[in-house]
Amino acid sequence: MAHQCSAILFLIIYAFVRPGLTYDTTTLDRCPDPSKENPGYSSTVSHGRSLWTHCGFPNPKLEQTRCGRPFSRDVTYNLCDPDQVLLSEIKNQLDQSLWSLEISTPYQCTPWHGAVLNYTIILVAVRYLRIPDLSSNETCINGCGEIVPDMDEFSRSATDEEKQLAIDNFASGLLNEFGGYFCDSFLVIAYWENETLISTALTSKLSSRISANRVEVVTRRALDYLASGETFQAFDVMITEYRALILGFTPAMAMLVIHMTLLVISVILIVLYAFFGGKSDYYDEEKWKLVLKTTMKIICGVWFVEWLLIMLVRVQGRIKLWIIIFPLVGLIAAVIGAFFLYEQSQ
Ligand SMILES: *[C@@H]1O[C@H](CO)[C@@H](O)[C@H](O)[C@H]1NC(C)=O
Ligand SMILES: *[C@@H]1O[C@H](CO)[C@@H](O)[C@H](O)[C@H]1NC(C)=O
Ligand SMILES: *[C@@H]1O[C@H](CO)[C@@H](O)[C@H](O)[C@H]1NC(C)=O
Repeated sequence: MAHQCSAILFLIIYAFVRPGLTYDTTTLDRCPDPSKENPGYSSTVSHGRSLWTHCGFPNPKLEQTRCGRPFSRDVTYNLCDPDQVLLSEIKNQLDQSLWSLEISTPYQCTPWHGAVLNYTIILVAVRYLRIPDLSSNETCINGCGEIVPDMDEFSRSATDEEKQLAIDNFASGLLNEFGGYFCDSFLVIAYWENETLISTALTSKLSSRISANRVEVVTRRALDYLASGETFQAFDVMITEYRALILGFTPAMAMLVIHMTLLVISVILIVLYAFFGGKSDYYDEEKWKLVLKTTMKIICGVWFVEWLLIMLVRVQGRIKLWIIIFPLVGLIAAVIGAFFLYEQSQ
């Protein structure tokens, strides 16, 4: 008990005092001046470098070549890398695991042209980003969610706060930008190569499953990999972690938990019945048996349907064996239980 209390206390204190670079953008006003609006460019060229913004940034699913990926009718990409920051071999490997997440979490929603979209992770890598000038007396947010004016990189260097804000705003801007296409079950990982910064933006549905602390830990691990030159591992660890957190909470998994609970309850019922049911003077035996029989029938049916469903879904994707075995064991246990009960009641 004392342990739990101190852990909770620690978390509360940590939540309040942890050092944050997070800039509170909610205090910024909407720009009054129309000249601060984005004129439709997703990047501006400054001293020979493309400085990217989320406004009009290409969606890797729709604009393959703008994303720096080879055009193909048969492949859809989840990774956008217009500056060719990552090696194409690394991109292909990462795309493979991004795709396998999508294929193993089907039927979350159908928001766009009737396409079946699943849980999705989009990875965006750019070399340079626009950096907002927080020292300006006119800093504001425009209609596209950009923080303006831009900092003049050649009169001073950006503060850490400005850099963090630039990457965070880029990631959350992309989330809005792609939002209409991916519905409420996707996240965006943004990588700013020149500053070695990474930010993750999550839809509200996913942020209830992937906590801010978790994102922080995963991001730190990825940055450690980047620092030691292991680019593939950096993003692979992020995808793998997020994937595990997402998969841990799919509806199928929730159903599994419910049915495991049902199984435990049914086992308790059977044990109770075996010990007390036959001897008890307190209950009407016939009714007691009828109730148990009905319960067992329902549980058996539910387990069977559950197992069939999961089989059908998993066979299409990569199968994790235990996901099939758990409901199967439940089903067998329920059938044996029902049989035992049936024999008893004869
Ligand atoms: C979603 O998952 C289903 C079933 O695994 C798959 O057929 C479909 O192609 C996936 N959708 C996308 C957009 O990947
Ligand atoms: C911001 O400061 C500049 C001079 O530094 C001034 O000309 C301008 O009016 C100020 N703008 C606002 C909104 O206060
Ligand atoms: C970032 O970009 C600037 C300007 O192009 C360059 O001088 C600097 O070396 C770059 N930093 C890294 C880590 O690539």
